[in-house]
This record gives sequence, structure tokens and C-alpha cells, in this order.
Amino acid sequence: MSKPLRVMTVFGTRPEAIKMAPLILKMRENKNFEPVTVVTAQHREMLDQVLKIFNITPDYDLNVMKPNQKLDALTARVLTGLTTIISQVNPDIVLVHGDTTTTFTAALACFYNQVPIGHVEAGLRTWDKYSPFPEEMNRQMTDVLADLYFAPTELSKRNLLKENHEADSIFVTGNTAIDALKETVRPDYQHNVLTQITPGNRVILLTMHRRENLGQPMDNVFQAVKEVVEQHKNVEVIYPVHLSPNVQKVAQRVLGQVNRVHLVAPLDVLDFHNLASKSDFIMTDSGGVQEEAPSLNKPVLVLRDETERPEGVAAGTLKLVGTDKNRVKKAMLELLTDSDLYTKMAEAKNPYGDGHAAQYILSDLRLYFSEIEKHSGNAERKN
Ligand code: UD1
Ligand code: UDP
Repeated sequence: MSKPLRVMTVFGTRPEAIKMAPLILKMRENKNFEPVTVVTAQHREMLDQVLKIFNITPDYDLNVMKPNQKLDALTARVLTGLTTIISQVNPDIVLVHGDTTTTFTAALACFYNQVPIGHVEAGLRTWDKYSPFPEEMNRQMTDVLADLYFAPTELSKRNLLKENHEADSIFVTGNTAIDALKETVRPDYQHNVLTQITPGNRVILLTMHRRENLGQPMDNVFQAVKEVVEQHKNVEVIYPVHLSPNVQKVAQRVLGQVNRVHLVAPLDVLDFHNLASKSDFIMTDSGGVQEEAPSLNKPVLVLRDETERPEGVAAGTLKLVGTDKNRVKKAMLELLTDSDLYTKMAEAKNPYGDGHAAQYILSDLRLYFSEIEKHSGNAERKN
């Protein structure tokens, strides 16, 4: 191909940034690509933490975040802002990631402007409209609009085939989350919170933020954590609390005064990966953390009733425990006391690729566009 491919990446939240960063960094060092980085800043502080770590300065920043934002208004701000940028940039393709409001709305803006869309982390499904909410429909609707699909696993490819997407538009690449992990985990890592842990104590890393878990389900889980820590003096919990006001409130109320529960601000990704690798096990409703844990050899109690990451359950790392207080307590105690169970979960094999997903995505993109060029007689971009 004669001209570099102008690839516009659009993302807005912490997990999208972590998983798009490896792609942006790879494009920067490859003359076949002209990367244009657009952030919606659906998250402000938590996005900026990631941009800083990976040394990425966006070309465009919509700065849309509002405190306690609602989905309709957020969607409208992103849609309007992106429409202007797309017409200024005139990209060959726009890459979106995952299942956030930014993801779906960016895909919709591209569709309205008739710009090709590549969906990174395509094909994840629970097939349950409201779980997770609104992510399941965000990813399904994004896949309806997309032209190219970068599926992390064979299973996600099969999901896309079931929906009649063309086989030659789907590429199985692994998950770029694993690419990011290669750069962050260091054996000699130290962090202030680790100095507060009594040597020899068991350490649980906790995160929780899903919209469908706000309110009672979150309260139930935190009560379970509180009771286990109060009843077991050798257990400590590190919990980097998401900045959503609805999460902050419950976390502070239930866990704020509990000895050996360390509530800390959201960690930058370097800190988070390293603390995860130093913990005994993880409790989370996060999507990204479910993908990272098998590579870190850490068992995960998934604080949800279903998951779009069944590969991690099949591998043995993830156990779905939901949000019922007694069930969560029981699962925690099992992992704390049953060393055979612990070892089995910790030794599972990572099903999310070899850590070169970004490279595969770029090769697949080049291949796809050179095929198009061949068939369209070298049509060139206008500017
Ligand atoms: C969003 C995504 C979710 C993803 C999660 C990752 C949607 C609808 N949800 O959920 O899929 O799993 O991000 O964390 O796309 N806030 C800050 N500073 C920040 C980030 C958030 O103050 O840096 C607060 C704001 O008050 C904001 C609120 O958190 O309004 C909620 O943020 P939002 O992006 O709407 O939802 P999340 O629950 O973070
Ligand atoms: N993460 C982080 N700091 C934290 C908690 C999580 O950097 O304090 C990282 C984590 O390693 C993973 C990603 O953020 O890569 C997951 O983001 P989140 O749980 O917010 O969203 P989800 O994956 O559920 O969409």
C-alpha cells in the first residue's frame, strides 16, 4: 500500500485505554500507520492515569465526563462531539474497543458518517440484554455496525459467526490486555499499601463497579467481606475504590472503618497489575480483571451471576459467585482454607492469547486494506 493507513482510535474509559494503548504504541513505531488518538474522556481522572503511564497524548479530547453521568446525556455528548472530529480527520478506519457507551456511540457516529469500523475485543456475549447493563447491548450493537472484528478467542469468533458476520471479516488475535501485562509486572515491585500489610497475612484484592451491582448487591458483597475480615485476623483486603459516587458511598459506609480493609484511590495500571500479582486472590465484577488474572496465576471470585468471559471459567481461574452475602462468604472461606482448590484455580492456563494481540491486529488491518485496494484498483484517500 502506498499511503500509511490513517487509523483513528476512539476510547473513553480506563479499561478501553489500557487495552488500546498497546495498539497505539505499536502504530507509532510503524510507518505503515498514521495513528490519530481521540478520547471522549467518559472517565476523566481514571483515563488520564492510563494515558500518563503509557505516555499517550490524545490528538482530540472531548472531555465529556460529568459527575454521576446518565447514559442518555453521555451518549448525546459523545455522538455530537465525534461527528465533528470524524469529518475533520477523515480516517480510513476507526477502531473502538469493548462495550462502553463510548464504544457503541463511536460506532454509531462512524456509521452516520459512513466510515469503516473495527471492533477490538469483539464477540463477547452473555446473550442477556440487561446483564451486564448496558454493556451486553453496547457490544452487540457495535458488532451490528462494525466492518472488521478482532475477536480475542475462538469462542468469541464463534459468537460472531452465529450472528452471521462474514468469516473473512473476523480475526482471532488474543486480548490486548495480555500485551499490556508484559510491560507492567516487576518482581521487585513495592507500594505504600504493601507496607501496611502484616507479613504472612493473606491478601485479597477487591474491585467492584458494575451498574447492575450498584445498591443492594454491592452492599451484600461488602458485608460478606467485612464479616470474613472481622472473623479472620490473618486476612487483609486492598480495595481501590472506583470513582463513581454510587460506589464510593457504599464502600465508605460498609468498609470505611473496618480494620485490615485498605480502601485506596484507583490505582494506576502499573500499581494494579503488581498488587494483583502480589495478592492471594482477587474478588471482582470487572471484565478486564477477569482476563488478566489467569496470566497472573490468581484465582478470581467473580461478583456477578454470569460472565461474557467463559474461557476463564473453563480454564479454572474464574468462579462465578454472584452477590448473595452467604454465597460470597462461603467462596471466600473455601479459597482461604482449601489449598487444593486454591492451587487448582491458580495454576490454570491463560486463554486470552500470547501477548502479541496488538501486532496481529495491525497485520490483519494491513492485509484487509491491501485486499480492498487490489479489488478496487488502488483507490486513494482524498486528503
Ligand atoms: C464505565 C462503563 C463500563 C466500564 C467501566 C470501567 C458505560 C456505561 N460504563 O462504567 O462499561 O466497565 O466504565 O470502569 O460505558 N468518575 C469520575 N472520574 C473518573 C471516572 C468516573 O469521577 O475518572 C465518576 C463520575 O461521577 C462518572 C461516574 O464515575 O459520572 C460513572 O462513570 P461512567 O463512565 O458513566 O460509568 P462507570 O461505572 O465508570
Ligand atoms: N485497573 C487499574 N486500577 C484499578 C483497578 C483496575 O488500573 O484500581 C485496571 C485493571 O488492571 C484492568 C482494568 O483496569 O486492566 C479494568 O477496568 P475496570 O474494572 O474499570 O473496567 P471493566 O474491565 O470492568 O470494563
